[in-house]
Amino acid sequence: MDTRLTVIGTGYLGATHAICMAVLGYEVLGVDVDADKIDRLRSGELPFFEPGLPELLTKAIESGRLRFGTSFAAAAEFGDVHFICVGTPQQKGSDAADLSYVDAAVHALAPHLTRRALVVGKSTVPVGTAARLTELLRELAPAGPEVELAWNPEFLREGFAVDDTMRPNRLVFGVASEWARDRLHAAFRPIIDGGAPVVVTDLATAELVKVAANSFLATKISYINAMAEVCEATGADVQDLAAALAYDDRIGGRFLQPGLGFGGGCLPKDIRAFAHRAEEIGVGHAVAFLREVDAINGRRRARTVELVRELLGGDLAGFEVAVLGAAFKPNSDDIRDAPALEVARTMHGQGAKVRVYDPAAMPNAQRAYPELRYGANAFDVARDADAVVLLTEWAEFREIDPEAMGRVVRRRRIFDGRHALDADWWRAAGWEYRALGRA
Ligand code: UDX
Repeated sequence: MDTRLTVIGTGYLGATHAICMAVLGYEVLGVDVDADKIDRLRSGELPFFEPGLPELLTKAIESGRLRFGTSFAAAAEFGDVHFICVGTPQQKGSDAADLSYVDAAVHALAPHLTRRALVVGKSTVPVGTAARLTELLRELAPAGPEVELAWNPEFLREGFAVDDTMRPNRLVFGVASEWARDRLHAAFRPIIDGGAPVVVTDLATAELVKVAANSFLATKISYINAMAEVCEATGADVQDLAAALAYDDRIGGRFLQPGLGFGGGCLPKDIRAFAHRAEEIGVGHAVAFLREVDAINGRRRARTVELVRELLGGDLAGFEVAVLGAAFKPNSDDIRDAPALEVARTMHGQGAKVRVYDPAAMPNAQRAYPELRYGANAFDVARDADAVVLLTEWAEFREIDPEAMGRVVRRRRIFDGRHALDADWWRAAGWEYRALGRA
């Protein structure tokens, strides 16, 4: 493939993109300001947990098509298409997205762009950012209007990042010219040939697709969790309710799993940044419901603490509580805005003796919250527990034998925050079983 790609920012998104593109046959240069991260990637070490990706990193490096570096001058010299894959976290003290990394990437790259090139934003940004960056690129790049900007949002899910990159359910190309569209087609040729549909649109629409998709998903989760609140007040069962709704294929069962709600590095900050941006441009009313979506999600965490307290007879203080799960979802070591850890910390704050176990997120959790106690496995944290609280639905937790776990705890009380366990099986083994949205 003669199109040479650079990937600016080698975090979760950028590393995945760089590795997959090299495996697909492109010459790729990954660039980051973090020399330590670059060294680790160069030596074949992936700085985060993602199934299937370490093997592809090795394969890509061995192919000779994937290189890493810290020089933006080298990136400009090397590439025809430059992907910007840096993070856009939530700003401290505000709901807005922090665009400083995106701006820094453009400021670092643009002064070296001396020939025709396409810069492609993949980061999730507030609508209008691409228009602003187009101006900035023209100002800063020696090649001026020869340098174009396009937007190509990514939709990858942690745990499925390789598949979502190699076989995405769609590609969105936000472009300002046919030339940019053709460059993007060339940069995604094997994926398009593999059958991925392409939506070609303008820059603003491409920026919006990402936040609109994540808002929809968050809304769907909070919708079923709002129903769980109603179920709790009426003695109804939200699991049966969700199952019955899912048979209507206009509704569908995906992202309709009631429980502790959403967390992670995307959904929470994206809906907040979207609401914030909409308010800035005078259409806040159109997405005001996203504030409620966020509030419903937060109430599930508070309600979980309340139900565990009830399970313990009205007070958490002094009780041993085993927490199963820390990552924001299974098959991930990501603890950003993790519902499980917020619940664990709140219970700890209310005097419970909390012990946490997670199959992948232990190092991250221990580093971020040294005040909590940790154990080596589910049975280890459950030893002498007054209650076991499941907060992330890892497969290995679903397989726990309630009889065997019953022998190590002090009291057989289980709170299932993710509807992951078979309630009848646990009750038959003498456990008091509680869950959100169920009698
Ligand atoms: C999400 C989007 O799915 C992805 O397209 C986007 O690019 C980035 O954000 P991710 O953050 O990896 O991906 O997680 P996802 O699998 O979407 O789950 C998000 C959260 O919702 C998790 O905390 C999960 O536990 C929760 N969830 C999901 C529910 O509570 N109920 C559900 O039915 C589904």
